[in-house]
Amino acid sequence: MTQIIDGKAISAQIKDELKEKVAQMKEQGTEVTLAVIQVGADPASSVYVRNKKNACAYIGIRSLAYELPEETTEKELLALIEELNGRKDVNGILVQLPLPKHIEEEKVLNTIHPSKDVDGFHPQNVGALCIGKPGFVSCTPAGIIQLLKRSGIEIAGKECVVIGRSNIVGKPMALLLIRENGTVTVTHSRTKDLKEVTGRADILVVAIGKPKMITADYVKEGAVVIDVGIHRNEENKLCGDVDHESVAPKCSAITPVPGGVGPMTIAMLMNNCVESVALQQN
Ligand code: GUN
Repeated sequence: MTQIIDGKAISAQIKDELKEKVAQMKEQGTEVTLAVIQVGADPASSVYVRNKKNACAYIGIRSLAYELPEETTEKELLALIEELNGRKDVNGILVQLPLPKHIEEEKVLNTIHPSKDVDGFHPQNVGALCIGKPGFVSCTPAGIIQLLKRSGIEIAGKECVVIGRSNIVGKPMALLLIRENGTVTVTHSRTKDLKEVTGRADILVVAIGKPKMITADYVKEGAVVIDVGIHRNEENKLCGDVDHESVAPKCSAITPVPGGVGPMTIAMLMNNCVESVALQQN
């Protein structure tokens, strides 16, 4: 029987653990605060931002919402970030992506102080992950490690294949799997004979961005498959990068879409907010 990895349940468990921790911190006089900045009114971003605020409310994290107009200049946004960097009562700063075209994303992300960078996008945090030092880790790959661990899936010594080399998912995913003593291969659009490589994977993490691209012939019998993709198909139904129907029967464990990786991203963001307090005290 294939184990369906329940991201909804695991993220709920993590959020409940954090809720307890935040209550204890409050008793000791520490409040956790996340500042969430959205520029413009991209509908998908508005949904993500609302979900983040709701998660904060559930756990007991104070959230400050900055909903800025589309015309906000880069200079104004950078000034707000600098102000929040300097505020002792703000622990985490999150700028929702994508930003309007007239604002340079890299400049914005690099302005967030590394000790408040709860998304884990600042080069200092990426570098810390690379050399195994403490710092914030990008939420989606951190969530995938939690999914594996809390589902009783051993990583050490396993052949791990990551499809996709983005800064937010693929690259940090590979680094985290190495940290867990996996043997890691990263594949991408220029990989020759992708099926041959993915066919060796004990753990296959798929972050390609193409609906249902990974079919059963890419997957080894008994593999663990983690699907990072989220798309809407012709019938307006959600699907992942993995053709779940054909792949699931071949796997020992697989994440569904929705309800797999998705809910973990916010849970790990909340975790980073809670951890930020200790990081800032050092
Ligand atoms: N837009 C889509 N995903 C993310 C994310 O994880 N963080 C931020 N800041 N923006 C996003």
